[in-house]
Amino acid sequence: ARANHPVACDEHGVWQVFRYADLSEVLADPVSYSSDLTGLLPPQEDFELFQRGNFARMDPPQHRKLRGLVSKAFTPRLVAGLEPRIAKVTTDLLDALGGADRWDLVDRLAYPLPVTVIAEMLGVPAADQPTFRRWADAMFEDIDQPTVLPDAEFMESRARPLREMSAYLLEHIRARRAAPRDDLISHLALAETDGERLTDEEMIGFVGLLLLAGHITTTLLLGNAVTCLHEFPEAAAALRADRGLIPAAVEEVLRFRTPFSRLARLTTRDVVLGGQAIPAKRMLLLWVTSANRDGAHVPEPDRFDVRRQPNTHLTFGHGIHFCLGAPLARLETRVALGILLDRFAEIAVAGGAVWHDPRIIVGPRKLPVVT
Ligand code: HEM
Repeated sequence: ARANHPVACDEHGVWQVFRYADLSEVLADPVSYSSDLTGLLPPQEDFELFQRGNFARMDPPQHRKLRGLVSKAFTPRLVAGLEPRIAKVTTDLLDALGGADRWDLVDRLAYPLPVTVIAEMLGVPAADQPTFRRWADAMFEDIDQPTVLPDAEFMESRARPLREMSAYLLEHIRARRAAPRDDLISHLALAETDGERLTDEEMIGFVGLLLLAGHITTTLLLGNAVTCLHEFPEAAAALRADRGLIPAAVEEVLRFRTPFSRLARLTTRDVVLGGQAIPAKRMLLLWVTSANRDGAHVPEPDRFDVRRQPNTHLTFGHGIHFCLGAPLARLETRVALGILLDRFAEIAVAGGAVWHDPRIIVGPRKLPVVT
């Protein structure tokens, strides 16, 4: 599709975009390509409540105002301070295996590590993670026809976990307003933009976005990293010989096995993209998986190369919505990989792995390993 129909309208009226250059163009232009898709979706009360603080789905100037409230907490410098805690959580999780040589990497490490870190940053109990996982699983359940817009039935199926999550977060938000602590929810509750505080309703979507975005993707990344090192033993050997290669290897995993397969935008006006005229108010699906393997931008795109320089993948997006948590996801994965390599002379992926629907999400749900 990338070579023959790089920008193409499908039978549902959705425009599919595949080339690196076209994705970059769209992501760099939030005025012509909106992140707010709510107008396309059937109305649903719980979803609308959540969207009020979900700045990933907002356009300027509102987006900048809300993102600005937390951006400082996620700078590479501040995130670097979390390294000892990330290492401790990883070590504790691996100690808890009690020497078992066959275990599930997702259940025992790739899920609990990032969810513990983001829960502690926000100030919600990390012990509630089975509940977070239930919500996340319900919300990211595979969709049969991933290019069709969600219908009312789909929205309803997502409403229950959203409603539960909103009620849970509201309780913590109110408690923290009454008795602030040193955590992100308290800081957000007290933060002001243009002399106004966030309302409880805005806080729900805001905190919910951080809680969900803060772990599911990193779970996928760590699972993908272990998968790649299993599939490419020479890469694993290179990392064992030189730990300095880990950051570049993580970038290559991000490119090669892209956790979020695609991003969505809505045209706000008639546009021309890749030579195709697209009317206003049309949905675009931007295939990051495809762009990251576009030979016009990446030499030898199908080769997994832990020394690839430069590695300008679009896995964290591009432009004003560039992933806020990228420094955190990178650090968590680098630290966890380093500790895994130190602790286990061999890490083999065993049979029985279960994968998400790669049209939506690339990564394992279950990843049995032998160490
Ligand atoms: C935005 C991917 C980890 C928080 C994004 C976007 C992508 C992305 C592609 C842009 C969405 C768009 O333009 O429509 C990933 C991947 C991750 C990861 C692949 C891990 C491998 C994290 C973590 C956090 C986080 C750990 C922690 C807080 C966010 C937030 C946004 C975002 C808040 C919205 C930013 C905005 O709209 O300004 N992420 N993410 N992400 N990510 Fe991540």
